[in-house]
Amino acid sequence: MIAEGFRIVPLGKHERASFCSGVDALDRYFREQVTQDVRRRLTNCFVLADATDGVVGYYTFSAASVPLTALPESLSKGLPRYPVLPAGLIGRLAVDRRNQGQGWGGLMVVDAAVRAIRADPAIYALIVDAKDDHAAAFYARLGFQCFVGHERRLFIPLSEIAKRL
Ligand SMILES: CC(C)(COP(=O)(O)OP(=O)(O)OC[C@H]1O[C@@H](n2cnc3c(N)ncnc32)[C@H](O)[C@@H]1OP(=O)(O)O)[C@@H](O)C(=O)NCCC(=O)NCCS
Repeated sequence: MIAEGFRIVPLGKHERASFCSGVDALDRYFREQVTQDVRRRLTNCFVLADATDGVVGYYTFSAASVPLTALPESLSKGLPRYPVLPAGLIGRLAVDRRNQGQGWGGLMVVDAAVRAIRADPAIYALIVDAKDDHAAAFYARLGFQCFVGHERRLFIPLSEIAKRL
């Protein structure tokens, strides 16, 4: 349940200059590059906006694929031998400093999952690239697991999220 007045919408004419997550690369990307990437159809960007349209957080979302061999055997053994599986990549995710630790990051991940479940092309899993151990711990807390041989690239099958929803 999202707090009254807050909503997650495609990036529009939101004020981006003052957004500050504390991670310079994510803030700079949001300020300087994201609109070009969206225009070129390289990614979509969704914004968590408050009642005054202020940006509380954002995430980028694009199509991706997962090699079957990157999944743990416990999962891959139950799947057909397709070389790759369709996925949705949360490329970047950030919450403004003043709003961190209040559940907004988790909510944006759930929002991405709902969009992936509703998408016309089938999507098997959400993928994220955690930028550091803290981010990896955040995603692990939400139920993501590491790809074989990767500590920072994580995934969650949408069937698992759907069960939780
Ligand atoms: C990482 C980030 C997106 C998390 O968003 P958030 O709104 O602060 O996190 P939430 O309040 O939604 O936390 C969701 C859950 O993850 C846990 N969590 C949050 N940050 C965590 C961390 N660093 N390590 C471990 N767990 C963490 C919370 O305790 C919560 O668990 P709970 O529901 O069981 O209490 C946010 O802190 C942020 O923008 N940080 C800077 C940018 C960044 O690191 N982005 C990640 C890019 S890969």
